[in-house]
Amino acid sequence: MADTESELLARIRVHGAVPRHIAIIMDGNGRWARARRMPRPFGHRAGMKAVRAAVEGCLQAGVEWLSLFAFSQENWQRPENEVSALMLLLEEYIAREAAELRAQGVCVRVHGDLARLSPAAASAVDRVVRETAGGSRLGLNLFISYGGRAEVVRAARSLAQAVRDGTLEVEAIDEAAFASRLYTAECPDPDLLIRTSGEQRLSNFLLWQVAYAELHISPVLWPDFDRAVLYEAISDFQRRDRRFGKVST
Ligand code: FPP
Repeated sequence: MADTESELLARIRVHGAVPRHIAIIMDGNGRWARARRMPRPFGHRAGMKAVRAAVEGCLQAGVEWLSLFAFSQENWQRPENEVSALMLLLEEYIAREAAELRAQGVCVRVHGDLARLSPAAASAVDRVVRETAGGSRLGLNLFISYGGRAEVVRAARSLAQAVRDGTLEVEAIDEAAFASRLYTAECPDPDLLIRTSGEQRLSNFLLWQVAYAELHISPVLWPDFDRAVLYEAISDFQRRDRRFGKVST
């Protein structure tokens, strides 16, 4: 580990309050590639290395959950060659990393409209989920073909269905009942949402779950994201005064 990384890690460990759940909007692959006069998929490929850095950084820092926005529902509208490059990268990522993730105690979950994935991508997803199911150090949520509004609609439909089936009273619908029907039902809401490339938008990511997340916007383009950037974000988080609508104590 580089000096700055270990210093930053030591600092956040001393401070103590590490976020339990970090969500990341990985942005800037296209700009990173363009700056090098390369096609966009070149940036996505470079972004794979940064995914590894994020996972390893979370493991080192003691973060329990990491949620990555890897492919949005809107991303299906990108040019065909970019979509297929991203799907192939997903398969490659799983082929390359599944064993290591398992060895590191990472449990991978994949969420989104997975029916749209190619049979090869879908079977890679099944494989990594199955092979890492026993991991207990870090839960890694990969959001693929995902949209936050679609997730909310899906949860609403599930509630409506339960009412229609007679297993749920309308009066019993509360925030907990709603949250239990989201993809993230088993993990706490993100404490920290990081977005790279300087953009200041949520882009339809985890709309319900980030209600009280602290936002950290990094100017770094995703392929340049490394553990030092992650630790800076955690350090920034530790300086925040989280009030959840109440007053400071
Ligand atoms: C946004 O950058 C990034 C994506 C749409 C894809 C993210 C994918 C990866 C990081 C690679 C593989 C990841 C996994 C988990 C296998 P952009 O293309 O919108 O960048 P731009 O805004 O600069 O054009």
